[in-house]
Amino acid sequence: MSDKAWGGRFDTDLDAVAARFSESVSFDQRLGAVDVRGSIAHVSMLAARGIVSRQDAAAIVAGLEQIGEEIARGEVTWDPALEDVHMNVETRLSQRIGAAGGRLHTGRSRNDQVATDMRLWTKEAIEGTCARIDRLLGVLVRRAPGLVDHLLPGYTHLQRAQPMRLAHHVLAWAEMLERDRGRLGDARARMDECPLGAAALGGTTFDLDRDMTARALGFARPSANSLDAVGDRDFLLETVAALSITAIHLSRIAEELVLWSTQEFAFVEMSDAFTTGSSIMPQKKNPDMAELVRGKTGRVVGSLVNLMMLMKALPLAYNRDMQEDKPPVFDAFDTVDASLDVLAGALEGARFDAARMREALERGFVDATEVADWLADRGVPFREAHHVTGALVRRCVAEQKTLSALTLEELREAHPSFDETLYAALDPETAIERRRLFGGPARARVHEQIEAWQARLRARGVEV
Ligand code: ARG
Repeated sequence: MSDKAWGGRFDTDLDAVAARFSESVSFDQRLGAVDVRGSIAHVSMLAARGIVSRQDAAAIVAGLEQIGEEIARGEVTWDPALEDVHMNVETRLSQRIGAAGGRLHTGRSRNDQVATDMRLWTKEAIEGTCARIDRLLGVLVRRAPGLVDHLLPGYTHLQRAQPMRLAHHVLAWAEMLERDRGRLGDARARMDECPLGAAALGGTTFDLDRDMTARALGFARPSANSLDAVGDRDFLLETVAALSITAIHLSRIAEELVLWSTQEFAFVEMSDAFTTGSSIMPQKKNPDMAELVRGKTGRVVGSLVNLMMLMKALPLAYNRDMQEDKPPVFDAFDTVDASLDVLAGALEGARFDAARMREALERGFVDATEVADWLADRGVPFREAHHVTGALVRRCVAEQKTLSALTLEELREAHPSFDETLYAALDPETAIERRRLFGGPARARVHEQIEAWQARLRARGVEV
């Protein structure tokens, strides 16, 4: 900080080590655009209130607009000696327009300024992430109709459980992502309050029009408590919590793609554009993008823990600790955004192997529930039916055969109710089609959901 930049209270410059330690412009320069916008709204309001002359305000706005353009073009050299983005912008403004620049900060503190900037930045970032979620949803929903007839085992405990349609599986991913989008939207709605006017912590003596600045910046309303407005970062905590859950969902999708890419499963082949080779093993085609999506989840959840520890036990109101909120927030958004993009691309080009999936249905007794249900349908108490079927499976395991390979005689040894209609019930397609409750995997239900998704995404302007 240059001599006496903090005014008459100080005799000497900040120690060089302390200056390097405390500067934030190296990362909060990302707030440049919203900082300029916030300042334009603030000074326009000051002029409307007669706190700053029209003439000075016009000069300030013009100067800020120029700085905004320079920031957009990447022409600004940020000076760490000026500590943060706010002091950089303000100093640049005064260099440009002279003494009038010194009036911009009337009735404002960097505390309400940065609280405003972070809300503005995060609201926009959430919109960007939601658009990316929509893009990925678009890929899933466009692919779903082509995956209705891909029958595969559904798994519990990663053990083959019941026959499933791949489209139903893919739409399960869509449901997860839709809730992520909803959580981000909820967080966005809750942070939609403008702190300007809270000043350092106790408001200001200037007769500001808080509604005017809130409206100009697109906030729903001004914040109701000046201490709270500058003293909390829960809006970032919940945003990064929502991003963490998103990342965890992405890691689960990614993990399935990794698993399915193995020769053991071989349900999917990722496109060349989203796989890599090995520097030593010529045969390899590795699902690195999915693995990295899985791995990067750690960064996002790490950012959440970082922020939570940052805020824990902080007394009201503003504390300098809060300056450290920015890197984890930026990194969480960057990481989730990139993961969403890469998964969208990877899923767009992935080839799902219906024959391999179908083969997997042959082993693992995914038809055992059908046998038990068949008996229960004919009046056998389900618990008994379950037991009888379990014994049949045990026999088949010992004799290395499938349930459908059992003769009627063998079946009747286990239970007298069995007849030849059982065999048709064991067909995977039949088994799936009998699960036609709302939310189930039967063809008509899956198509119903595909249509619901198409309508929902179309209404949001997503190509489906
Ligand atoms: N760079 C600071 C931050 O991000 C701005 C607010 C500084 N306020 C203060 N009183 N030092 O938190």
